[in-house]
Amino acid sequence: MNTSIFIFLLTIWFSISASNPTPTRSYEWDYLIFAQSWPITTCTQWKESKAKNTCHLPIDRRQWIVHGIWPTKRGTKGPFSCPSPIHFDPKQLNPFLDQLDAQWTNVHKNSEKYSFWRHEWTKHGTCASTLPQLNSIPNFFKKALEWNKAQNIADMLTQSKITPGQNGYHVEQIANAVKAVTKHNPMIECVFDSHTRESMISEIRICFDKSLEVIDCVQSHGINNNNSTNVITNCSLKKPIMYLDTVPL
Ligand SMILES: *[C@@H]1O[C@H](CO)[C@@H](O)[C@H](O)[C@H]1NC(C)=O
Ligand SMILES: *[C@@H]1O[C@H](CO)[C@@H](O)[C@H](O)[C@H]1NC(C)=O
Ligand SMILES: *[C@@H]1O[C@H](CO)[C@@H](O)[C@H](O)[C@H]1NC(C)=O
Repeated sequence: MNTSIFIFLLTIWFSISASNPTPTRSYEWDYLIFAQSWPITTCTQWKESKAKNTCHLPIDRRQWIVHGIWPTKRGTKGPFSCPSPIHFDPKQLNPFLDQLDAQWTNVHKNSEKYSFWRHEWTKHGTCASTLPQLNSIPNFFKKALEWNKAQNIADMLTQSKITPGQNGYHVEQIANAVKAVTKHNPMIECVFDSHTRESMISEIRICFDKSLEVIDCVQSHGINNNNSTNVITNCSLKKPIMYLDTVPL
């Protein structure tokens, strides 16, 4: 080949590869976010998103339910949907289906029975499964059920006299109630409800290291800490947060 043509082609190749660097996907993560939801808020959002939506609430009306266990790399979200040989298999949940229904409830009644659990396994479980303690479908789901009992949000809040009803609470009160028990900073998520025009508590997240010890949560998932309060939250800091006992619809 003519040298100048060769150099010409080489130049093109370099400029293409420089402008389109091969993405180096990393499925590494640093810590786990254990997210628990307040089902009344989940249901409110679901019903407001479509008039025909219906809810399936846990039988125990004080029960905070599992949303998921999310492996997270510091400073970002995810990784998500990692390459894993383990494909979601609903049959593997059958031995503890009643516990899942009570503690990891699919509030979205008019959705496919296993859809919530399938989504959580596929998006997060496949990444978490690099940890020996979470390396199978039963281990992953059972760990969440165990943590839901050990990190009982309703009990933590009740100990600080925060109970579901029509009273609002300051987000710092809620964070302090959790921290009083876990000794570490949680992450607190609210949704603004367009119907009631109130800020409603939707999730409380507790973070764990790879030895499955509770640690301080750090900013992630778009939830910042407001430096003046040190609470990691996207709830309003000015308005009371509603912790309702019934769906306001
Ligand atoms: C808080 O963040 C979640 C997503 O993580 C979002 O769905 C929600 O609307 C946010 N709430 C507010 C009040 O901005
Ligand atoms: C808090 O401080 C950090 C670092 O100084 C900054 O990046 C962040 O934007 C601040 N957050 C708020 C809500 O002011
Ligand atoms: C942070 O919190 C303080 C005190 O509640 C509040 O005045 C301020 O507006 C908040 N800042 C942001 C960015 O939310």
